[in-house]
Amino acid sequence: MQEILKKLQELTGKKHIQLTERGNKSIKLILDLANQLEKTTVLIPDQGGWMTYKKYPKKFNLEIKEVKTKQGLLDLKDLEKKADKNSILLTCSMPGYFAVDNTKKIKEICGNKNCLFVNDASGSIGTDAAKTGDLVFASFGKWKPINLKYGGFIATNSDEFYEKFDASYFEETMYDDLKKKFEELPKRLNEFKKTRKQILDDLQSFEIIHKDKDGINVIVKFDDKEVKQRIIDYCKENKLEYTECPRYIRVNEPALSIEVKRL
Ligand SMILES: Cc1ncc(COP(=O)(O)O)c(C=O)c1O
Repeated sequence: MQEILKKLQELTGKKHIQLTERGNKSIKLILDLANQLEKTTVLIPDQGGWMTYKKYPKKFNLEIKEVKTKQGLLDLKDLEKKADKNSILLTCSMPGYFAVDNTKKIKEICGNKNCLFVNDASGSIGTDAAKTGDLVFASFGKWKPINLKYGGFIATNSDEFYEKFDASYFEETMYDDLKKKFEELPKRLNEFKKTRKQILDDLQSFEIIHKDKDGINVIVKFDDKEVKQRIIDYCKENKLEYTECPRYIRVNEPALSIEVKRL
């Protein structure tokens, strides 16, 4: 247990760690905390988020406001307009698993506006982007960088928040497997990187969203059936899984998301 907490402290740069039974449970605990702090609004990205961002706030009587994004990356001007002391920002530091967002700037804006910055690091874990935020959380689910297929966590430096978290459960029998997943993480991230680079090289002539950012998945735009079919053929030849957009959890436009994270 101590080793696990230590590793998560390293990965998030935070002193308090609470393990949870899944990523969605982490979100619920954070929204419960938002209620205790008398916040009224949850800011979420207009795309590149997670499904429960749109569902759970209502259960906690919190209003949802969408922040504009540039293909998943937060529009900082819109964030500045909407963030205030009554709000929390719930966002992925690697939206859709395809591009790392500017967490330093996001933190600065949220800090100036007293808006709580909640960083969903399910995709960015193992990178510096997973270390910014008043609260950092992630899922260890299937197809995640830490693919234990069970559990998640929340991390914070705030003693107050840590004390206020509701109780959560984590299956002790999973500790050893989780430690193995931590050991495998650098290798797994490296494999993602190599595969992403190969795909970017192979698909140079296609329009790839945020290809200059660090990411895991590769999102390739199409505007006609022929281009779409060429991308599908490439995925089939190379045994790569893909999902189709528009989708809130990737991008809101016609594109195929090559799901490198499923390797
Ligand atoms: C970005 C992101 N956040 C949160 C979750 C929720 O995690 P869980 O499935 O462990 O509840 C997921 C995936 O499932 C996810 O991809």
